[in-house]
Amino acid sequence: MIILGIETSFDETAVAIVEDGKKVLAEVTATSADMHIKTGGVIPEKAAREQVNSIIPVINECLKIASITRNDIDNIAVTYGPGLIGSLLVGVETAKTLSMVWDKPLIPVNHLQAHLYACFLDNSPEFPLVGLVVSGGHTDFVYMESPGKIKHIGGTRDDAAGEAFDKTARLLGLPYPGGPAISAAAESFLRKQESTVEQQALLTQTDPGSRSGMTLFPRPMIHSKNLDMSFSGLKTSVLNYVKSHPELVSGSRSRIGEQRPSSACRDDMGRIAAEIQEAIVDTIVAKVAFAMEKYKPKSFLLAGGVSANTRLRNKLQVLYSNYEKGEFYVPQVQYTTDNAVMIAAAAFYNPKIVSWKNVNANPNLGIEE
Ligand code: KG4
Ligand code: ZN
Repeated sequence: MIILGIETSFDETAVAIVEDGKKVLAEVTATSADMHIKTGGVIPEKAAREQVNSIIPVINECLKIASITRNDIDNIAVTYGPGLIGSLLVGVETAKTLSMVWDKPLIPVNHLQAHLYACFLDNSPEFPLVGLVVSGGHTDFVYMESPGKIKHIGGTRDDAAGEAFDKTARLLGLPYPGGPAISAAAESFLRKQESTVEQQALLTQTDPGSRSGMTLFPRPMIHSKNLDMSFSGLKTSVLNYVKSHPELVSGSRSRIGEQRPSSACRDDMGRIAAEIQEAIVDTIVAKVAFAMEKYKPKSFLLAGGVSANTRLRNKLQVLYSNYEKGEFYVPQVQYTTDNAVMIAAAAFYNPKIVSWKNVNANPNLGIEE
């Protein structure tokens, strides 16, 4: 079965053609990210205007790359929520028009659920499963008995994990989106630390494992016996830290301007980035451990933009290596952030066809719907 997937929930215009939920025949993405880097965030109306211009050329390009015509397509899948209303409308109205004109069945897809189906591209996770979507707007745990039976079992009470990365990065003067920027600064700091500690360990014969000790920022609710999380306190805590260490931010600003920051300043920035990353990662890992104990799923799926984070992937891999029941799945890095391949995959594994007349964009769609 060949599915044409369309994803326009945020700033990207992404289209993919996927066969049987696994084989990617083509994928094309037009992004207005450069425009948003300049403004430090996405301006919804500008994003939607770009998407109106891009959608048809992107679909045509995708058909060309896959070397197929519309006659070869079995179904059209489209994200109908959640997301920015103007952006969602571009994808949904295009998909409805194509469904009617080409006479193809239409499958509306929940963007949050689709993130989890990115894990099905290379693998076949068994049900029941527990999934965690960690993205820019959501941090949601779900329990799934089957593709159609999904229950929200916990998540953030305020900011999403990706939002915590984005907002704290902004406070540090790092570029948007904040997750990759914080992660890059943190990883280079940690690599340096590791080599220094390893060198010292060689000299003194001590254990290099007792290195981390990163506890500058809070990990609220980490011990609560539920899957609730809260990340807004982290932002406040980083803000207070930055206010009392103004030299940190003036250093990072000079990174964008003419002067290069000193290496001491880069180290400080790396250390704070690593502290922020560790606070977020520790919180998520503690909650995943709790979910595994409570639900004992056959599979655990981590997905969404924040699942690109190397530290998080590695720590969960270690956690799972000690867990006998079930398997841990995470998408290839390129399918962690928003993409249309996951939309086509979701439609293949959960094929709920709806007449184009009854498909409407829903910016506030919940993960269970
Ligand atoms: O899933 P996604 O592409 O879009 C939404 O549906 O929200 O997630 C975007 C989020 C952003 O907050 C971004 O900062 C975060 O994912 N992100 C990361 C990394 N790459 C992207 N966060 C931490 N580490 C990363 N390597
Ligand atoms: Zn997303």
